[in-house]
Amino acid sequence: MTARPVPVTVAVTGGAGQIAYGLLFRIASGALLGPDTPVRLRLLEIPAAVAALEGVAMELEDGAFPLLESVDISDDPWLGFSGANIALLVGARPRTSGMERSDLLAANGPIFTEQGAAINAVAADDVKVLVVGNPANTNAFIAMTNAPDVPAARFTAMTRLDHNRAIAQLAKKVGAPAADISRMTVWGNHSATQYPDLAHAAVAGKPAVELVESSWVTEDFVPTVQQRGTAIIQARGASSAASAASAAIDHIRDWALGTPQGDWVSMAVPSDGSYGVPEGLISSFPVTCANGEYTIVPGLDPDDNARARIDASVAELVQERDAVIDLGFAKRD
Ligand code: NAD
Ligand code: LMR
Repeated sequence: MTARPVPVTVAVTGGAGQIAYGLLFRIASGALLGPDTPVRLRLLEIPAAVAALEGVAMELEDGAFPLLESVDISDDPWLGFSGANIALLVGARPRTSGMERSDLLAANGPIFTEQGAAINAVAADDVKVLVVGNPANTNAFIAMTNAPDVPAARFTAMTRLDHNRAIAQLAKKVGAPAADISRMTVWGNHSATQYPDLAHAAVAGKPAVELVESSWVTEDFVPTVQQRGTAIIQARGASSAASAASAAIDHIRDWALGTPQGDWVSMAVPSDGSYGVPEGLISSFPVTCANGEYTIVPGLDPDDNARARIDASVAELVQERDAVIDLGFAKRD
């Protein structure tokens, strides 16, 4: 008899929320780590939402997923992150109509301070962290600085939804399937200052910039991707949920299992100083992944326009970082 593979423990915060409702059933089905890896889910919520979380856990049980070994629920991060190999920090207060992302810094700071400390204390040695809850880059920065014993590179934030949105817009424009698009890049913050960059993107191997007008790129593509989150909030009356869940799956799957040869993805990761982004700032870069590690794609040489847009988004991240340091949620190196 072949031995059953070792299960992976996946902690998810905000387990009773909208994104989690799209996320948990896909994790349980094997979409996150493949069809051979059993998973143990640890779901975290605030006390007021634990009853709803019990309902989600009942539904997970009712799925009779062959790969789902167990579901534990808790409102205590020191229990919820215990032994976690993967931590998906989804729980936060979502932005609603009329609210700026900067309004969320003060509301979310204490959550990510506490969760960073708990991950530091009780997660598995190989923990990989993805922050989805907004403002995602800066929340990840807070968690990272509150987890001094976990390598900083394990703290990432989600710009994969922006990356996927950029692929979708280009695919629609050129009439190609999304699968034909490669080397899309999103730089900077998961906010309206992000820079979706077509310079190296290809459609079935052909440079995208040769297939679209430059006016479409500046007047349509870039603002549509930058504003897509707001457009969804206006249309749905709530922030994107199923597409965000799908992007979270993509982010972790590629980080854990690798990116396809010749392609890359966008992840917000602590800067190593690449592309002039201050070291330690969690900013979106093009990355390749192999053997459970990511590497920032080197040598892309952004042109003057791209440089200015990357600098503007990075300046916003610096402001957010300084604000949370002033508020006492994060420490300067
Ligand atoms: P939601 O309000 O439906 O769910 C959030 C859940 O988090 C709630 O059930 C809430 O009780 C829980 N929660 C709050 N504080 C918590 C804590 N300290 N511990 C555990 N759980 C806690 O929101 P949602 O639609 O699921 O969105 C979640 C977050 O994701 C929001 O911040 C949203 O802005 C963000 N988001 C990010 C992206 C991205 O691309 N990075 C995309 C979409 C949404
Ligand atoms: C999104 O990109 O859809 C969300 O991050 C929007 C938001 O502010 O919640």
